[in-house]
Amino acid sequence: MRLVNVTNHSYSIGVRILRAIPIRIPYMTTLTTPPLSTLLPRLLADAEATSKQMTQLSPEEREKLRTSPTDYQALYSRMKDFHLAVSRETGVLLYMLARATAARAIVEFGTSFGVSTLHLAAALRDNGGGRLISTEFEPSKVGHARENLAAAGLSDLVEIREGDALETLARDLPDSIDLVLLDGAKPLYPRILSLIESRLRVGALIVADNADWCPDYLALVRSPSGGYLSVPFAADVELSMKLGPAWATQ
Ligand SMILES: C[S@@+](CC[C@H](N)C(=O)[O-])C[C@H]1O[C@@H](n2cnc3c(N)ncnc32)[C@H](O)[C@@H]1O
Repeated sequence: MRLVNVTNHSYSIGVRILRAIPIRIPYMTTLTTPPLSTLLPRLLADAEATSKQMTQLSPEEREKLRTSPTDYQALYSRMKDFHLAVSRETGVLLYMLARATAARAIVEFGTSFGVSTLHLAAALRDNGGGRLISTEFEPSKVGHARENLAAAGLSDLVEIREGDALETLARDLPDSIDLVLLDGAKPLYPRILSLIESRLRVGALIVADNADWCPDYLALVRSPSGGYLSVPFAADVELSMKLGPAWATQ
């Protein structure tokens, strides 16, 4: 009888202790729990809806979007209300790559409404912190992206630089960059890469969305003497890794 009482008493103390300890189930992530898990589907649905507006561009404008290194400002201004976000799959890929490389310093070219930014910032949060520098020249988009980051509770990890990436990414970059997303004007990919290249750590990953729109970029990262290993990945991504001496992995 006494024994049963002791056991019951111990049991109830045990339950109370367990309730008092904030348990974080290991497979819960910032990406897959609220607020992000409810915000992202809404943003991706908005992006899907506005993607149909691309048909408003003339064939000439669409061709310039792919090829012109000078008309990009005017073209993207015309698309300032289009979300143009990465796909859900590319977003999850970005999260996974940032987690797998334990990334702490990330650079992003092309913020738009912040869908890719949210995935990358979520990975930084789950990696224990870090810094994401993103850049966007359309002021209204910068405003939307900041609102979305605030709604997700991720603003503290992200600096959005408003302006042309050719200027905003030409200064004050982290000494060692772990991961890069290229998702702005496609004809600028080689020039943006040249701005950040010296800061890439050996093993750094570069994800270039729709890189097939920029043959010069593909030639650069796929060249045997270019200093990268590079493969087309998933439907529309080129994934490249910065090479270096085998012993210099960080
Ligand atoms: C495809 S969208 C980016 C989508 C974003 N990564 C996402 O997943 O939500 C490209 C964005 O890059 C911006 N952009 C294009 N060229 C730029 C440049 N040179 N500097 C800064 N922003 C640029 C455009 O205004 C546009 O919002």
